[in-house]
Amino acid sequence: MASESREVNGEVCPCRKYTMEFKNKVTVVLGAQWGDEGKGKVVDLLAVDSDVVCRCQGGNNAGHTVVVDGKEFDFHLLPSGIINPKCKSVIGNGVVIHLPGLFDELHKNESKGMKDWMDRLIISDRAHLVFDIHQQVDGLQEAEKGKNSLGTTKKGIGPTYSSKATRNGIRIGDLVGDFEQFEEKFRTLVATYKKTFPALEVDVDGELARYKEFAVKVRPLVKDTVSYLYKAIREGKRILVEGANAAMLDIDFGTYPYVTSSNCSIGGVCTGLGLPPAVIGEVLGVVKAYTTRVGDGPFPVELHDETGRLLQERGHEVGVTTKRVRRCGWLDLVVVRYTAMVNGYTSLCLTKLDILDVLKEIKVGVAYKLKGKKIDYFPSSVAELSNVEVEYLTLPGWACSTTEARRLHDLPANARAYVKAIEDYLQIPVKYIGVGQGRESIISVD
Ligand code: GTP
Repeated sequence: MASESREVNGEVCPCRKYTMEFKNKVTVVLGAQWGDEGKGKVVDLLAVDSDVVCRCQGGNNAGHTVVVDGKEFDFHLLPSGIINPKCKSVIGNGVVIHLPGLFDELHKNESKGMKDWMDRLIISDRAHLVFDIHQQVDGLQEAEKGKNSLGTTKKGIGPTYSSKATRNGIRIGDLVGDFEQFEEKFRTLVATYKKTFPALEVDVDGELARYKEFAVKVRPLVKDTVSYLYKAIREGKRILVEGANAAMLDIDFGTYPYVTSSNCSIGGVCTGLGLPPAVIGEVLGVVKAYTTRVGDGPFPVELHDETGRLLQERGHEVGVTTKRVRRCGWLDLVVVRYTAMVNGYTSLCLTKLDILDVLKEIKVGVAYKLKGKKIDYFPSSVAELSNVEVEYLTLPGWACSTTEARRLHDLPANARAYVKAIEDYLQIPVKYIGVGQGRESIISVD
């Protein structure tokens, strides 16, 4: 029937003729908890087979480390595909860019051996610029909040997204366009901020001179990335989107206000790159085998005891960007189920299973109760989430090393049971399992 309906009087019906079909759909990697799940390693693994790797949101407030041939590369703003000489890297319109930070990052990685990046890096003309003034304002706003501060990275990300929403933000396209207009916009931005923060000290002429130089440096990298990606999709290129931060830090779905200022869930992939939902294929949720969160905000499964300290130490739970110690707790499947509702993971990557190797018993949060009653939704308010009581499932530990495992069957039975319990609860297959820091320490589940 379907094929008959395509033909009208021997001709293909126009409504069928133009259906968009894709040789390769876009693969997306997203953090399923509060960030630092270890997205870098899985992105690095998938980037090897990708033609284009994209960042769609956030700024240099994220960070991951990729180890290649014994050399450690640090990425904050750059897509980690940049180290692959065969791969193009796109910084999309949804990303906010601090140019001094971007060039520092490029030069640092260049000194470690990253070559010819200028031929591979493409920056959206619609991406907004983070200026030093945004970073100063970030610090001032945090200081004003005192003990109620949000624990931001003070990288100016929040103020830049505020400028974008207020519509006095300045985009990369403005910088590489008419410099006089850029200058006017920059002077207006500074004047507006000075009304709110009279103590701000900005050398406007100095900044303008600096940005005139940045305009020359960045111009060859700037493109309309929407058309670029559209063409790449049409040509059947393999595209990977690398999420930064994570769903629980999403400005809409995370633990607001203890969140970042962008959509780090699936919606941000579409709005931050100009990709239509129909081109998205695999959505890989990265889940750490336990939970961590950096900064303030409610954290129902947090462990304030010896086990919490053990996870923190074994897992080296200290931020790459901020050097802050991360709070640790058991795996919270209520959180992951909620972020799966939002992101629609088609599969999962479970990282840092090896950190649990020494435990006799492992708990997993499986339900939340409020006033003794189970709730069937994820609380939106800080007050409510701070008061939930977590119901746990207790599983036996495996008490041996998993770091040498390279196939699912190399794992001890109790570790496999742990993985299965996660799959059964979430009804999502686990496709990769991380068992160590190195690039090779990953199990691909067939
Ligand atoms: P954000 O983008 O800032 O949220 O971080 P991220 O999710 O990219 O985390 P990142 O890739 O930086 O990983 C954090 C740390 O975990 C790094 O030091 C990784 O080497 C390490 N790591 C990743 N996977 C594993 C694993 O399976 N086992 C162990 N032991 N370490 C891992």
